[in-house]
Amino acid sequence: AFFVSRWIAVKLGGIYTVIQTKAKITVDEWGENLFMMGPYYEHNINTQVEKCEPSNPAIKKAMGALTENGCPVYFGRWLIEGSPYVILFDTKAAAWNVDRWKGDLWDTCGIGLPFHDIEANDSLIFGSMVAWFFKELTDQLGDSPNVLAHFHEWQAGAGLILCRSRKIPIASIFTTHATLLGRYLCAGNVDFYNNLDKFNIDQEAGERQIYHRYCLERAAAHCAHVFTTVSQITAVEATHMLHRKPDVVTPNGLNIRKFSAMHEFQNLHSTNKGRIQEFIRGHFYGHLDFNLQKTLFFFIAGRYEFSNKGADIFLESLSRLNYLLRVHKSDVTVVVFFIMPAKTNNYNIETLKGQAVRKQLWDTAHTVKEKFGTRLYEALLNVAVIPNVNSKWLQLLIVSLPVIQIVFHPEFLSSASPLLPMDYEEFVRGCHLGVFPSYYEPWGYTPGECTVMGIPSVTTNLSGFGCFMEEHVSDPTAYGIYIVDRRFRSAEESCNQLTQFMFGFCQQSRRQRIIQRNRTERLSDLLDWRYLGRFYMHARSLALSRAFPEKFWMEPLAPPQGFRYPRPGSVPPSPSASVHSTPHHSDEEDGDEEELYDEDEEAKRDRQNIKAPFSLGPT
Ligand code: UDP
Ligand code: G6P
Ligand code: GLC
Repeated sequence: AFFVSRWIAVKLGGIYTVIQTKAKITVDEWGENLFMMGPYYEHNINTQVEKCEPSNPAIKKAMGALTENGCPVYFGRWLIEGSPYVILFDTKAAAWNVDRWKGDLWDTCGIGLPFHDIEANDSLIFGSMVAWFFKELTDQLGDSPNVLAHFHEWQAGAGLILCRSRKIPIASIFTTHATLLGRYLCAGNVDFYNNLDKFNIDQEAGERQIYHRYCLERAAAHCAHVFTTVSQITAVEATHMLHRKPDVVTPNGLNIRKFSAMHEFQNLHSTNKGRIQEFIRGHFYGHLDFNLQKTLFFFIAGRYEFSNKGADIFLESLSRLNYLLRVHKSDVTVVVFFIMPAKTNNYNIETLKGQAVRKQLWDTAHTVKEKFGTRLYEALLNVAVIPNVNSKWLQLLIVSLPVIQIVFHPEFLSSASPLLPMDYEEFVRGCHLGVFPSYYEPWGYTPGECTVMGIPSVTTNLSGFGCFMEEHVSDPTAYGIYIVDRRFRSAEESCNQLTQFMFGFCQQSRRQRIIQRNRTERLSDLLDWRYLGRFYMHARSLALSRAFPEKFWMEPLAPPQGFRYPRPGSVPPSPSASVHSTPHHSDEEDGDEEELYDEDEEAKRDRQNIKAPFSLGPT
C-alpha cells in the first residue's frame, strides 16, 4: 500500500496530522509493505527522516529508473511513531522536465497549468514522478502482489490522473480534505450552505483564478476507484463542487495516549498552565493588573483564514463576553490567544524585553529568598498584624478594568521560542477552553485534540468534527463540547450563543472545571484511530474489489454502524441544564484534593453503558 501526499514530513495544518497520527496503526496493518510518498524537501528531511536503502528489490529498481534519468528519488524511515518507510521525490531536481510534463497532462486530459502557479507546477512534477514510479513498479510486479495507492488532496491529484490515463494497474483511492472551491467561496463571504446546488462551479473557479487546480481536483475525484472525504458535511459539499458523491466518509482520528494514572492529564493541565502564567507575567509586565489565580486561558488555533476559522465571530463574541463579565462584576479575567501563522518580520523588542525582565525578577527573587530567607522568617515572627490586601477600593478598581486580554501569536508554537517556549500540545493542556467557531471546516482537528487532552472546546455544526460529535454523543455540552449553531442561525444569533457558552464557562467554579475536564477526556476512545481506522480499511477493500474484481471477489466490508455516547450519569435529563449540572460548591477555590470524589465511579458506570465497537479495535 502506498500513501501519496504533499504533506509527508511537512508540518502544516490538519492533513499532516491525519497522516502522521495514522502511521502507527497503518504500519501495524501493512508492516514492510507500507510506503508513504511525498516531495523531497531537504530541510524537513534532514530533521525528520533517516535515509536508508530500500530492502524491497522492486522498489529499489523502480526508484533507480527515475534517479538514473536525472530525477532523484530518496528512501528512508520517517522518524515518527510506527517509523513508516518514505519514498521522496526530488521535484526541484526534476523540474527540467516540467514543460514536457505539462504537455503530457494537456494531451491526457486537457488541463493546462499557468506558468506563475508554482504550487500547481510542483504538484505536476511530483505527480509525473509518482506515475512513472508506479509504471516501473507494476511492470516488474505484474499481477502479484497488487498495488493499492491512496492519494490525498488535489496536490497529489496529477499522479492519480496520469496513472489512470496510462492504465497502470493499481487500485486507487482519492481523499479530499476540503474542496478548493468550497474553501474559496466560504472565505469570500458567500452564503455557501444554502446555495450549494446553485453555484456555477466552472465559472466560480475561473473567477477566482483556480480553474486549473479545481480541474485537477475534480479529475482526480472522478478517476479514483474510490473517492472519500473526511466528514459528512464535506461529502455533501464535494457532491456539489466536484460532482461526485464520495463512496466512503473517513473521519479523522488521533493516536490516543492513555496514562496509567487516571488523572495524570489533570496534573499536566496544572503544570502547563503554570508555564502559560509565566509567559503572561512577562508579557504584561508593568501592567499586570489582574489576578492570575482567577484567570482563564482561551485560545483559537489554525491556518489564518479569518472568517473560515470563525475568528470574526470569536472577536465579536469576546467583546460581548467582556461586557457581560463587567456588568456581572465578575472577578474572572480571560486571556485569549490567537495562534495563527501570519506574515512576520521579527520578534517585537518590547515583548522580548518583558520576558527578559520577568526572568531577571525571578532569578533576583530567588537569590533574595536564599540570602535573606531566614532573617525574613525571624522578622515575620515578630510582626503582630497581618496586612489586609483585600481592601474595597482595590476590588472596585478591578471591576472597572477590561476583563479580557488578547494575545496574537502569529506563528505555530514551538518549545524553541524565546517568548512562549511550549509545544502546541503542552500549550493546549495548559489552557481552559479551545474556541473554534469555524464557518468552513471539513473536519477540524483542533477541537478533537483538545478533547483527547481533556480540555473542553467550542466547535460548530458546520465543522466535520462538530457534526460527528452531535451524531455520536447524546449531550455533547455535558462533556465539554460546545457546538455553536452556524447552519440554521444568523451570524448575530451565533455570536450570542457563543457568548453565552463562554460566559457560562466563566461562571463555573474550579471544581466544576475539573469535573468537566474529566468528562471531556472520557470521549477520547471515540476519536481513536484504532476505531476510526476501519473506515479506511473499508475504503481500501472497496478499491481493491473495484480495480481487480476477478481477484478480490469478496463483499466489501459492511460500512461500520453508528453508536452513541450516553449522557453522563450525574447529568439531569434536560441538555440545557447540563452546563451547570456538575456539583456546585460556593467555596470553590479551596480544596482541590477532593476533586476526584465519585467522578471515577461515574466514568466507570458510563463506560459500561456504551455499547462500544470502538473498544474492540479494528476488525
Ligand atoms: N497546530 C500545530 N501547532 C500550532 C497550532 C496548531 O501543530 O501551534 C496543528 C494542530 O495540532 C492541528 C493543525 O495544526 O492538528 C490544524 O488542523 P485543523 O484540522 O484544525 O485545521 P487546518 O489548518 O488543517 O484547516
Ligand atoms: C488540575 C489539578 C488541580 C488544579 C486544577 C486547576 O485539576 O490537578 O490541582 O487545581 O487543575 O484547574 P483550573 O481549571 O483552575 O486551571
Ligand atoms: C483540511 C481541513 C481541516 C481538516 C484537515 C484534515 O486542512 O481544512 O478541517 O481537519 O484537512 O482532514
